Amino acid sequence: MNYDAVAVGKNDLAAGLSFLQDQAARAKFAWLSANLVRKSNLRPLFSASLIRRVGSLSVGIIGLTGHDGSMRFGENEDAVLLPWQEVLPDIVSDLAPRCDLLILLSNNVMNQNKEIAESFPDIHIIIQSTPRSGNSVPQLKNKSLIAQTGKQGKYLGWMLIDWQKSRTWGRAGATKELATKKHELDGINGRMSRIERREKKEDLPAHKSYQTLLASKDRLLSEIIFLENELHDLKESGQTPSTYENHFIALEVNLPDQPEVKKIVETTKLNVNQAGRSQADQSATSPARPELQLEKLAFTGWKRCATCHSPQTAFWENTAHASAYQSLTEQEQQFNLDCLPCHVTAEYKDIKISNDATVLLALPVQLQQVGCEVCHGPGKSHAASQDPADISRKPDTSICIRCHTSERDEEFYYDNDIERIACPASK
Ligand code: HEC
Ligand code: HEC
Ligand code: HEC
Ligand code: HEC
Repeated sequence: MNYDAVAVGKNDLAAGLSFLQDQAARAKFAWLSANLVRKSNLRPLFSASLIRRVGSLSVGIIGLTGHDGSMRFGENEDAVLLPWQEVLPDIVSDLAPRCDLLILLSNNVMNQNKEIAESFPDIHIIIQSTPRSGNSVPQLKNKSLIAQTGKQGKYLGWMLIDWQKSRTWGRAGATKELATKKHELDGINGRMSRIERREKKEDLPAHKSYQTLLASKDRLLSEIIFLENELHDLKESGQTPSTYENHFIALEVNLPDQPEVKKIVETTKLNVNQAGRSQADQSATSPARPELQLEKLAFTGWKRCATCHSPQTAFWENTAHASAYQSLTEQEQQFNLDCLPCHVTAEYKDIKISNDATVLLALPVQLQQVGCEVCHGPGKSHAASQDPADISRKPDTSICIRCHTSERDEEFYYDNDIERIACPASK
């Protein structure tokens, strides 16, 4: 697709560094990471940055691999991932004077990118690739625009930029924003003076709402000064601010699969399942996994509930929830940890069967469905007490949307869907 550059993301390293380097060697575009470096000499393993000529402009592009402290390399891998604070200052001060436009491809999360924007006004655009799934329209932070497209290539981001000599983004809304903030400030001043008239002066420091208003006033004042300065600077410099237009283009769902690509995807899925299967076999034969014995788990399994609730069980057995694990088996994906969390009984609100996800690979069969306890909560103590107070009756929408995410079930609508799975009344 004629990409100029791609940043190395954290997940790209999942199959090992040497695998990625092999791929990069065959690619027709540059792979960038300024912070993935050799341990021995701190030189980048891929390129840190590049400069492209676009018309009369020099466009600098820097890559950053996501850094959250969790990345581990093997003993024999000559690699280390550095935090952006250690690498960006040098690269930006090297590139900024040589480039008209500077773009950062960042695999860091939004908060980190906002910090980067605060620290490096010379970076004009930050294109973000975080695990969050959706498109996010460009937002201005300090002098940088931060934007992201939906993951897995489901969307392309398209930005038409009119880049001016001013090298700053114009905020068409700045004048309006200033007016709104001034109006807000008037309101706060009014409320404060009413309190001042009512209360004694020495009581004000302990007056809660007065202090809250005071804090808002301080915040508004500094925002107003910032906006006023910005508008003033633009006017003084007589320079036109740069502007952009932004669109997201969805990949059409009716595009036919490419047979060669489809084959690679299918094979990869089977390989992932096979890897999970061998992991499960190892778990089963390792003697010390008490967490896999039903008696020791938080969840007790649907068979236990069935002994007292046969009409509800008979109903549930006819819903797709009862065969959710079966659906994975049919696709040979029952050992894929990307699928299991939503197709088994292992989580309810903040109760998780284990913090070790590999437990899902070897669950007892009574938990290999979207079972009763997914909706009603762990029921061991209720099964013993038979007390309705020990179990939850009606699952609310937050329970459902953990699995019925917009990505997996675009048409999920609680009010309708609850009807289709609600167990029948006992009497
Ligand atoms: C030994 C028998 C027994 C077992 C086992 C049992 N229950 Fe119950 N359950 C009861 C009784 C008795 C009630 C109260 C029935 C009533 O009030 O009509 C009840 C009530 C309920 C209710 C309704 C609660 C309410 O607020 O009205 C739910 C939901 C429920 N059980 C789910 C489960 C689930 C899920 C399991 C398995 C984890 C389970 N039960 C296991 C006996 C049992
Ligand atoms: C643990 C994940 C999970 C939770 C929680 C969950 N579901 Fe599901 N649901 C699934 C899966 C997976 C399927 C599809 C199973 C299959 O076809 O193999 C499904 C299927 C369904 C279906 C289709 C049923 C049918 O028989 O055709 C409905 C309706 C539904 N869920 C509603 C709900 C509602 C309402 C809630 C909340 C009260 C809920 N689900 C909670 C995972 C979940
Ligand atoms: C975030 C939760 C979630 C994850 C992760 C998940 N699923 Fe599902 N899956 C669902 C839900 C919800 C449904 C029901 C969707 C509906 O009713 O339209 C479903 C339905 C299904 C179905 C039956 C309906 C169909 O589309 O044919 C299959 C098969 C399936 N999933 C396979 C998988 C596989 C394979 C994976 C892993 C690669 C996976 N799922 C990962 C939640 C999930
Ligand atoms: C996908 C969610 C879901 C699953 C899975 C599920 N239930 Fe329910 N169950 C409900 C809903 C919704 C209701 C209706 C609650 C209401 O409207 O008050 C309900 C009601 C009940 C009741 C109370 C019936 C009454 O009115 O006395 C019992 C008992 C019950 N379920 C048992 C079970 C058992 C046993 C299983 C597993 C075999 C199970 N449920 C699986 C969602 C679920």
